[in-house]
Amino acid sequence: MKQGRISQTALKVALGIITLSVKDGWAKRLPPRLVETSERLLLASGAPGYGPRLMRASKKQWMVHVYEIQDRLMPGQWEGFGHRKIFMQQQVESAIAEGARQVLVLGAGFDTLCLRLAPQHSDVRFFEVDHPATSAAKARGVAAEGQPENMIQIAADLGKRALSKALSEDGRWHGSRPSVLVAEGLFLYLKDEEVRSLLTEAAACTRPGSRIAFTHKIPDERKVVPMIMRLVGEPFQSAVRSEDLPGYIEGTGWAMISDVDADPAHGIERYAVAERR
Ligand SMILES: C[S@@+](CC[C@H](N)C(=O)[O-])C[C@H]1O[C@@H](n2cnc3c(N)ncnc32)[C@H](O)[C@@H]1O
Repeated sequence: MKQGRISQTALKVALGIITLSVKDGWAKRLPPRLVETSERLLLASGAPGYGPRLMRASKKQWMVHVYEIQDRLMPGQWEGFGHRKIFMQQQVESAIAEGARQVLVLGAGFDTLCLRLAPQHSDVRFFEVDHPATSAAKARGVAAEGQPENMIQIAADLGKRALSKALSEDGRWHGSRPSVLVAEGLFLYLKDEEVRSLLTEAAACTRPGSRIAFTHKIPDERKVVPMIMRLVGEPFQSAVRSEDLPGYIEGTGWAMISDVDADPAHGIERYAVAERR
């Protein structure tokens, strides 16, 4: 990914969610306040082109048709965003109900989960880590929304800086507390060995019983999608079949606890949950 530039894919996920909210019954299915908060974060981000005009256009039916065409080219890279926002929120809320007291979202982009849940859970600390440029753009929106006291944004390139280092330098993360981690739309931008070393790092920062909910790209024969991603400067770097995840993460300190995700509605990115052993 290009250094010093706001992640184009992070912007695209948030914008896609806004358009999804005007398709069929999606507005009711998406987590409460997700759409409005995403819109305000995008407007405050300062990302070129992400102004009121684009927000208005994003809610038009013709834009729905544009995304429907794109969804055929890149299955799961539009409606799949909605499914995975619902899935991740369910994972985090059930982990909190079971005692998690820290939430860490890796490669957070313009995701609104921490911002929306932090005010409801004053006894839980919410952390986000992202590339510095994207983190700074997001911080403008978080400040405009009102920074929750229990939400912490950490700017770090996880390809270059160890997660344990980024967290210990910030000083507010406690590895002894039960935690739930989220890596949504991140692993596909890291190489296989980077995914495994990030998981190993995450294990070193968490106590047994903690969970990580993540998405992973599955192998796909189509050539057009990787080409588009290379053109936007955020090429796909890793892929693994859901069936192969137990072996893929072996030795990282995590073990799979979710079933194989065979849902075609999730497209080229599938969902999984692992537990810290
Ligand atoms: C497709 S976006 C997903 C954003 C968000 N998780 C979501 O699903 O709405 C990928 C995110 O991963 C972040 N990312 C990619 N490589 C990273 C790295 N090496 N270190 C930190 N963040 C990274 C990008 O900045 C971007 O925010």
